[in-house]
Amino acid sequence: TLAAAPAALGRSINITGNGGWEAALARARHAVAQLDLAEKVNLTTGIGSVGRCEGTLGRVDKLGIPELCFQDGPTGVRASDFVTVFPAGVTTAATFNRDLFEARAEAMAAEFRAKGIHVLLGPVTGGPLGRSPYQGRNWEGFGADPFLVGEAAYRSVRGIQSQGVIATAKHFLVYEQETFRQLYAADDPWTLNPENNTVNTYSANVDDRTMHDLYLRPFQNAVRAGAGCIMCVYNQINGTQGCEAPAVIGGLLKDELDFQGFVVSDWSAVFNTTPAVNAGVDVIMPGGATTGGYRNQVGGPALLEAVRDGQVDEARVDDMVTRFLTQYYLRNQDKDYPAVNYKDGYMGTYLNGTRVNEHRNVQANHAAVARDINEEAITVVFNHKRALPLSKRSKVAIFGSDAATNPYGINGCEAWIGAGSNLCPGNRTTNGTNAMGWGSGAGYFPYLIDPAAGLQEHVRAVGSFETNFNDYDLTGENLAQIERFAQISDVALVFVQARSGEDSDRTSLALEANGDELIARVAAQNNNTIVVAHIVGPTYLDAVFDNENVSALVLPHLPGQESGNTLARVLYGDVNPSGKVPYSILRRDDASHYPNITRQSAADGTIPVDFTEGVFVDYRKFDRDGVTPLVHFGHGVSYTTFDFGATSAQAAPAGDYYPTEVPSSSNKKAPGGPNSLWEYVATVESSVSNTGSRDGKEVAQLYLSFPDSVKGVPKKQLAGFEKVHVAKGQTEKVAFQLTRRDFAIWSVEKQEYVVPDGEYTVRVGASADDDQLRSSAKLTM
Ligand code: NOJ
Repeated sequence: TLAAAPAALGRSINITGNGGWEAALARARHAVAQLDLAEKVNLTTGIGSVGRCEGTLGRVDKLGIPELCFQDGPTGVRASDFVTVFPAGVTTAATFNRDLFEARAEAMAAEFRAKGIHVLLGPVTGGPLGRSPYQGRNWEGFGADPFLVGEAAYRSVRGIQSQGVIATAKHFLVYEQETFRQLYAADDPWTLNPENNTVNTYSANVDDRTMHDLYLRPFQNAVRAGAGCIMCVYNQINGTQGCEAPAVIGGLLKDELDFQGFVVSDWSAVFNTTPAVNAGVDVIMPGGATTGGYRNQVGGPALLEAVRDGQVDEARVDDMVTRFLTQYYLRNQDKDYPAVNYKDGYMGTYLNGTRVNEHRNVQANHAAVARDINEEAITVVFNHKRALPLSKRSKVAIFGSDAATNPYGINGCEAWIGAGSNLCPGNRTTNGTNAMGWGSGAGYFPYLIDPAAGLQEHVRAVGSFETNFNDYDLTGENLAQIERFAQISDVALVFVQARSGEDSDRTSLALEANGDELIARVAAQNNNTIVVAHIVGPTYLDAVFDNENVSALVLPHLPGQESGNTLARVLYGDVNPSGKVPYSILRRDDASHYPNITRQSAADGTIPVDFTEGVFVDYRKFDRDGVTPLVHFGHGVSYTTFDFGATSAQAAPAGDYYPTEVPSSSNKKAPGGPNSLWEYVATVESSVSNTGSRDGKEVAQLYLSFPDSVKGVPKKQLAGFEKVHVAKGQTEKVAFQLTRRDFAIWSVEKQEYVVPDGEYTVRVGASADDDQLRSSAKLTM
């Protein structure tokens, strides 16, 4: 049964400056004291589509505060020219490499800063977390495990803010499906009549423990990293609109997590000004007359009115502005910050006689970072008979539209009815290679090296041979050519894909564009068929596994602009693969074990999405259900082989903590949760040996199991990972530090985290596959 989270938790809480932000807070207070109500309100609400950015705040000339600029998103500057389209979140997660998480964020934020953007609308911090593979936006985030997402969010926030750009951990909280995320009139999504013909937003119904032990956790990391901004959600949470829920924003975030930054609403996610502001929303976006959830006015004039009516205290408005300006001053955005020099979505130079785009090239050498990430993300799932790496002596045939460029162009699509100077970002069709999803997480490709191009260049350089046929029409002459090319080649590379994006959940988990049939047709002619699948998340791959002529399976995830060249380097062995799938993949017959999303409203018009699986998401659920995945969470092979040595565990000396960017003197109240949660309480050591014939990298993964006496918990959960380079024939030590939080469970009765007494087991190995976790140790808490 679903016990609602305690509703008693009141309203927004005022900033204290806790975490070393006192000096910036003092400056913000000083500034706020000089503003009248209208000026203050100006800094709480966007100015709508007249702004240059995805979201633009009103300016305050008397303090020299310019229009502050908020821009998507998690894979790079959205909808601007001369920017880098980075590997997606899911791709970055597949590296399991913290330094790459941070390098990506740093490079990305440098581009935001150079374009004059103050607030980056990312990282996606486990909202969505990947509860259901149907959720169209999972690819924007860092996989389906809260520990992994937390580590990635922590490093991303740090990397972004190192550039003086404010990071936005989003979406807070439990945003696990797209369907019914916003209100729509059945006949016309843009002219809504709230009195009739409307459909509700869905309500994510989540119990208190699940909230704390799964969905809140990555946000704890983001807040401990000092995230300046958090975005609230479109959906309802336990029956209350997410951006109007005091228990969530005031309670969980500003009270429990002691969050000292500001909360921005998702775009048009606020329905009513007063409840949103009193719940704790500090900045309402995008502003304008019709951008409320009912296509009404929210914020701005409506906030002024609410203060005059006494529904909102002016002190609350002060806190809204103070929270925001504290971040502005903290990041020194008042000093030498570049002015906005682009317009969101606009490729032209002038608009109504004004120069709105300077076309500044901000890419620097970030393509190198993008390549590094791809090269460590590309995941080889199996490699029978050493089919990989390819030999330059092999004649290669390449199949599938996923290998090639989109016939409409890299930023084109079949039908685009956007504004004149817009590109069509985030290809939604199955035309061309899949390198990113669509929606606010998409960018405009400056170029896109598709697999065929990347492979061709490599073939030219090494003096090999390839031929290709990039159509998925499996009839007539097309089919005859495919079969013929497959017969005459030594290796057949088949490219397949599964896409998704914002505002549209996946309706099927099957490969798209005749993928299964293409694989079958090619493999029938060639017993050295290698499948490369650009997939957004869990997808049916039975046809790949069950075909004995398929010798290898490679998942490059969503690689962004540097797709084909990095893939070629892994396929030809210039790079030894070390990517790991950051989610589990089930067989088609087991798909009922995936939580589905709600696609129909109930008779009373509500749309309940009941998180009945509780904390059991991804491998936690499959462990409980006794289902063996086709591909285990964390799995991926190398061109060399690894073995794990003995594991030992011991208590850690007291007083050493998981790092924080926001140190607090109080042990009770600290940004990200009480310090005691973050204290290292155990150290686990193991080792990785390279038993093969090449140097390579392996991800040592640590899974923790609770004492047998503790019921209702996952059989195991990720509590550590370390990527290590091991030279052939060598052994490297790996050490993990575990915090008290890793052992803790939320007690609904006590309303705090508790560590159950007893004997815990830690297992170290190469994936979440129990058979891979042979090295273990015990720990008593
Ligand atoms: C809606 C999306 O949910 C959010 O992620 C994005 O930042 C805003 N739109 C602004 O584009």
